Amino acid sequence: MNYPLSEKYSTPDLLTKIMGPNPMKLQEELLTGHLIPEKSVVCDLGCGQGLTSMLLAKEYGFTVYATDLWCDPENNRRFFDEMGLSETQVIPVKADATALPFEKEFFDAVVSTDSYNFFGLDPDYLDQKLLPFVREGGYIYITIPGMKKDCHDNLPPELLLSWTPEQMDYVHDADYWRAIVSHSRNAEIVEVGELKSNEEVWAEWLKQAKKYAVSDRKSMEAGAGKYLNFVKIVLRKKSAQA
Ligand SMILES: C[S@@+](CC[C@H](N)C(=O)[O-])C[C@H]1O[C@@H](n2cnc3c(N)ncnc32)[C@H](O)[C@@H]1O
Repeated sequence: MNYPLSEKYSTPDLLTKIMGPNPMKLQEELLTGHLIPEKSVVCDLGCGQGLTSMLLAKEYGFTVYATDLWCDPENNRRFFDEMGLSETQVIPVKADATALPFEKEFFDAVVSTDSYNFFGLDPDYLDQKLLPFVREGGYIYITIPGMKKDCHDNLPPELLLSWTPEQMDYVHDADYWRAIVSHSRNAEIVEVGELKSNEEVWAEWLKQAKKYAVSDRKSMEAGAGKYLNFVKIVLRKKSAQA
């Protein structure tokens, strides 16, 4: 894969902000050929330390609500300032994805990289908690850590070197996710599949000195990567008349 947009920002300094496999590259592949209109108002849901929000504002020209539960919005504001992004280009928001504080139909689109599995496994989540904030016809682009083929009844030992079975409950294959999002009455499925990005984004993560990266090395160095992938989900909110 080539990543002409995110390669510019995948510097050692900025990569200290990643919280998992390089989210800028995952997002860039996720949004290849995307259908989000120019100048859209976009929610970056579970934005972490803001790298993907920065990319959405700088390289795609969207107005971005950088929304996250665990990360400090003031730190993210400082980062956006350092990157030359104004308060009208990126707006950091501390919020729980299950109780979003926005006006109904506020967003033209939602983009979510490496976080939806924390709150979106509930089949009712889309209709009850997220779609109300998306305008009719608006798009949702999601990528999450996934499995090539679900094997939770017989997890390979390589996976269990770094992760518990409970942690693996958040990791599923594309068919599993298709069944979850199919439950929505208000979204049509545009695509569910897998990204090509895997080895490269993992390699950048495993080089980090962070505790979770060091712990993830045990499984990945034992070959667990062959069971894993990144699942891509693209949805479009139906119109009320549909
Ligand atoms: C693995 S980190 C990824 C962060 C970022 N997207 C990235 O790739 O660098 C997962 C993120 O999901 C966010 N998250 C988890 N549960 C959430 C919730 N209920 N509402 C909003 N954000 C949530 C966390 O705050 C965390 O920043």
